[in-house]
Amino acid sequence: MALRFDGKVAIVTGAGGGLGKTYALELAKRGCKVVVNDLGGDRHGTSSSTSMADKVVQEIKAAGGQAVANYDSVEYGDKIVKTAIDNFGRIDIVINNAGILRDVSFVKMTELDWDLIFKVHVKGAYAVTKAAWPYMRDQKYGRIVVTSSNAGVHGNFGQVNYAAAKSALIGFANALAQEGAKYNILANTLVPTAGSRLTETVMPQNLVDALKPDYVTPLVTYMVHDSFEDSGKVFEAGAGWYGTLQYYKSKGKVISNATADDLAKNWSTITDMNGAEFIGTITEQSARLVSILEEHESSSASSGSSSSGGAFP
Ligand code: NAI
Repeated sequence: MALRFDGKVAIVTGAGGGLGKTYALELAKRGCKVVVNDLGGDRHGTSSSTSMADKVVQEIKAAGGQAVANYDSVEYGDKIVKTAIDNFGRIDIVINNAGILRDVSFVKMTELDWDLIFKVHVKGAYAVTKAAWPYMRDQKYGRIVVTSSNAGVHGNFGQVNYAAAKSALIGFANALAQEGAKYNILANTLVPTAGSRLTETVMPQNLVDALKPDYVTPLVTYMVHDSFEDSGKVFEAGAGWYGTLQYYKSKGKVISNATADDLAKNWSTITDMNGAEFIGTITEQSARLVSILEEHESSSASSGSSSSGGAFP
């Protein structure tokens, strides 16, 4: 059965082209009312026009769907959410997709390169989500997606600014997921790879042509549907591959009163990923540390020394 979005209202930021356009078209095709936000600027975030969003709205309407354009920069999230409320009366789905690149080696990076990237990716996702959040809490329903990148996960040469911003978004969504849980607000991170205006400067043309944005669209569509249940997770799509990324911790080694020399001696054991454990939440992580502390205390007690001896400073 097709996943439908009748009665739902979505904001897709940066939906005038590239990946965002495909999300807007697909959601509208499935019955969703869509706010098509796009500043209509260049890929470096330094200009604006209304035509990009307008064209997508026209395409949605021509196909019988419902959509409205918004031309504000994502840092004015309240105006974008107001467009949803004024036109459709509610907001259920926020897809934080708008993005720019200002690739430059760290030695040549200016404060403007850093600030613009953070303004669009991080402040933008914050501002739109923040304005939508009270509506989602009140109605006890929300689906939020933020867009990270493999650069945010692995880092990338010439993208210190972009990698840092994309990494910040993962923490943003993971924390939102915890605050949204009791209000049925799910927040997840997308890591896409696709040929677009943004990537044509860094990918060879044959790859830009082959990595169709439409390969990413089904994942985002499912991530914002009623039936989706995961939250605080990272999902990835590109080239027709779909998967997830998770954090694992090495078994490591407990060393009482360790010195730097002890760590140097044991480094291969500390960093050995054989038998690494999946840590799903910060609660699990805290429980893990508490149990190590308890082990310490019981071994100190059996050896006659006191736990206040500072095994865990
Ligand atoms: P794109 O350049 O085709 O689309 C981005 C859109 O965001 C543009 O239409 C642009 O006008 C709009 N935009 C830029 N600044 C804005 C602002 N301040 N307010 C509102 N709209 C704004 O790029 P693409 O590839 O579709 O990227 C979409 C998202 O996916 C971005 O966040 C990007 O960083 C991310 N991404 C893309 C990857 C790829 O392989 N294409 C890889 C990893 C992440």
